[in-house]
Amino acid sequence: MAATDSIRDYAIGVFDSGMGGLTAVQELNRILPNENIIYFGDTARIPYGSRSRETILRYAAEDVAFLRQHEIKMIIAACGTVSSMALDTPIVEDMPFTGVIAPAIEAACSATKKKRVGIIGTPATIKSGSYIRAAAATHPDVMIIPQACPLLVHLVENGYTAFDDPVTRLVAEEYLTPVKKENVDVLILGCTHYPVIADIIGDIMGEGVRLISAGAEAAKFAKKCLMKQDLLTSRSEKGKNTYYVSDSTEMFEENARYFLHEEVHGDVFRSNF
Ligand code: DGL
Repeated sequence: MAATDSIRDYAIGVFDSGMGGLTAVQELNRILPNENIIYFGDTARIPYGSRSRETILRYAAEDVAFLRQHEIKMIIAACGTVSSMALDTPIVEDMPFTGVIAPAIEAACSATKKKRVGIIGTPATIKSGSYIRAAAATHPDVMIIPQACPLLVHLVENGYTAFDDPVTRLVAEEYLTPVKKENVDVLILGCTHYPVIADIIGDIMGEGVRLISAGAEAAKFAKKCLMKQDLLTSRSEKGKNTYYVSDSTEMFEENARYFLHEEVHGDVFRSNF
């Protein structure tokens, strides 16, 4: 059935535990500039990555319910942790949906020549084995080397993102050295916060290692999905991003520039939970 024009002009709903999902928004703005985006960042309850599966799924259900209060035509879980839990437990079934795992695995496994892919993520993501299972299902010839990086989210959230930041570099070296030793030629940034420090990660891994942003790959997948379902907007003017957060809007406005490289003043609102 052809989509009505009004549904086509609904927004794309994106959520994350905090600001990391903005790496997906940035890519959506680049490849789908006419689409409206409703973003929800659960900044009051971040981090999700150190919580139990039950809690993460409960939070995710509430995030989805919040997005559903708006006119949306698709949902992107732009959070590696939620996407990992949603691999076995579907969280959206009545409209197009994607997490970040399958799109990132597809991009990484297509890019690796050595058939050795590293994946870094939160403790919950790595413990779930989500990336390993997704790769085994579609690219069983590719070896996945996982590494949890518990401290990186906190460093990014607190603005320790400069290329020469000694603390972030030290912590990243600690996590990445074992992955580098495994001779990977592709590294998935399996948590949506990590692209903000991609320059540090890339510098440590070395030139021969390609970095894949899970959030950006989810955005590309979302475009394909909307095209396939004839749900792309017919508008020709630039789309609008509207952001909702469960904690301080000021803090979000201040830090969003690390992710988006632009100001979001005036477009950020407090959610009702
Ligand atoms: N957004 C989460 C992810 O991509 C990282 C932050 C958190 O732990 O909630 O896994």
